[in-house]
Amino acid sequence: MSDCCKCNGNCKDEFLENLFNTYKPIKDNLIQILNEVQEHYGYIPQRAQSAISEFLNIPMAEVYGVVTFYSRFSLKPKGKYNIAVCLGTACFVKGSQKILDRLKDRLKIEPGETTKDGKFSIEETRCVGACGLAPVFTVNGEVYGRATVKKLDTVLDELEKK
Ligand code: FES
Repeated sequence: MSDCCKCNGNCKDEFLENLFNTYKPIKDNLIQILNEVQEHYGYIPQRAQSAISEFLNIPMAEVYGVVTFYSRFSLKPKGKYNIAVCLGTACFVKGSQKILDRLKDRLKIEPGETTKDGKFSIEETRCVGACGLAPVFTVNGEVYGRATVKKLDTVLDELEKK
């Protein structure tokens, strides 16, 4: 069972049913519906994609195309701690690649992957709007600015203990 569902899995179909009750079945609502599914599950499960395709009466391929186009949507469950390294220009010139390399090295996974124990996942992001603090990484959306490899190590050490 993934930690990302707050309701122990019992509400999954109920969640989609309720969601569909709050939206008109028109294609313009696709992104908003996907946002809600992503927020609830932490990713877009395949069965949600097929339910959405049926609800909006659009091909699965179209839903899949949108999910893969936007980086905020994920096809796989994220870890309990999703660590995103900003590779936007301001962060990149200040060395965010080194942070990402260290992260991959320590967790032994690549961006878009989750550790086997489900605890960590890594993501590459574009500007998160905190360029003044570059380089930046985030943990579940919480920003860590003026990042260094040492700072990352300290944060990882803390999270590993939890
Ligand atoms: S480029 Fe990283 S926060 Fe803007």
